[in-house]
Amino acid sequence: MFINMSEKFYITTPIYYANAKPHIGHAYTTIAADALARFYKLKNYKTFFSAGMDEHGLKIQKAAEAIRKDPQVFVDEVSAGFQNLWKKLNIQNDNFIRTTNEMHKKAVQEVLQNLFDKGAIYKGEYEGFYCVGCEQFKSENELVDGKCPDHDKIPELMQEECYLMKMTEVQERLIEKIKKDEFRIAPERYKKEVLSFLEGQPLKDVSISRKNVQWGIQLPFDPEHTTYVWVDAFLNYLTGLDWRGDGQIIPEEWPADIQLLGKDILRVHATIWPIILLHLGIELPKMLFVHGHILSGGKKMSKTLGNVISPEEMLEKFGVDGTRYLLLSAGTFGEDVDMTMERMTEKYNADLANGLGNLVSRVVKLGESLDLEAGEASIEIYEEEMEKLELSGALKKIWNLIDESNKFIADNKPWELAKNDVDKFKEVMVKSTIELYNIAGGLDSFMPETAEKIRTALKTKKAEILFPRIKQDA
Ligand code: MSP
Repeated sequence: MFINMSEKFYITTPIYYANAKPHIGHAYTTIAADALARFYKLKNYKTFFSAGMDEHGLKIQKAAEAIRKDPQVFVDEVSAGFQNLWKKLNIQNDNFIRTTNEMHKKAVQEVLQNLFDKGAIYKGEYEGFYCVGCEQFKSENELVDGKCPDHDKIPELMQEECYLMKMTEVQERLIEKIKKDEFRIAPERYKKEVLSFLEGQPLKDVSISRKNVQWGIQLPFDPEHTTYVWVDAFLNYLTGLDWRGDGQIIPEEWPADIQLLGKDILRVHATIWPIILLHLGIELPKMLFVHGHILSGGKKMSKTLGNVISPEEMLEKFGVDGTRYLLLSAGTFGEDVDMTMERMTEKYNADLANGLGNLVSRVVKLGESLDLEAGEASIEIYEEEMEKLELSGALKKIWNLIDESNKFIADNKPWELAKNDVDKFKEVMVKSTIELYNIAGGLDSFMPETAEKIRTALKTKKAEILFPRIKQDA
């Protein structure tokens, strides 16, 4: 394998709001980031995978108030729940940045002071409709029947003194960078969407502080205000690298190579975030990659519809690697993906219990009497797909190998060859074993525990049942 330790790979997930338990959408992005980080690690890149929590703002303040909890105690609990889930899902994040962390808070204040001194921030007033669910002001044309379409709620009219960040003076430069793919937005249709928005109008200056929100980071130059939660949150992508807010001393991992995010938070990521960086004179991330939403039975998941699929439910039913596989193979990364427990159970039985599970137990059992060499792990099978973030495509490639191997065994009937053609038997088993090592190598990024179990089974010649069949719920 080509080894190049000078290449680095920095990947981020959004930091999730610490206002409720993790849901399947959070797990989806985080598992995807984990698979990509593991892949680049296997490619010998100096890899850093940053994950974390967004712990300030009105939404969290209100959630804590509603249950009469101290907000810090509240976010400590919620964030512990996320961390716990990532552990269960075998997520290998290199850090877990929380925006209530002292170092992060100081860095945010450093940045705000810097922006204020530069004249990129000024005092003014803002009036608009604020959606607490989005933690964003909404323009009237974004509302449907007067409601925020994402949260189905009428936003509150807010008018207050605040500090604003200048947007238009760097707008042209931002457009140029997006056009040239220096700041790449993928898939392509999202780049078009962002460009048409940016080219369509001068951006309104963004309110970057709140007077009526206590649960936030105080502005260093005006203690009556707290920092707007998105500005606070974006900076995690740098403070997650231990950055102290100094515009001159930038961590070596920066710029991010891939920032994963859902389509609902693209607009802010493609405007406020790069504009902060442009004001600071810091390089923009190389790419924002936008994934779709997970739907359940064709609909948005909601408690009222009763179609919510929880990460815990999946873990209990399908195990860690089953969950990782089913989420990433459910559809094209970058498009909406529809899931139901019924279809996932079917797929689990077909691809995992039958396809992969059968192959492993056959190869191990049939090869018991033979002295077979260990094969090499290889990422070549799916390298091209991974580099294009075609995660389900990469899995498809691995599953093609699994199907071919199963077919090769069925066609050659090694159990018969063992009785009447020992040389041919050995040949078939050598080939099948090499192929299974290869498959295990492919699974390293997606199903690391299974990959390890396969290699151990081949070495010890003992195969446990990797994926017991599951009955459909009546
Ligand atoms: N805290 C902000 C992000 C700040 S990043 C600087 C936030 N948090 S969130 O908890 O609401 O999580 C948002 C992420 O979860 C988004 O990427 C969003 O697209 C994703 N998902 C929310 N529901 C989803 C699905 N049903 N399916 C897939 N992803 C979904 O926004």
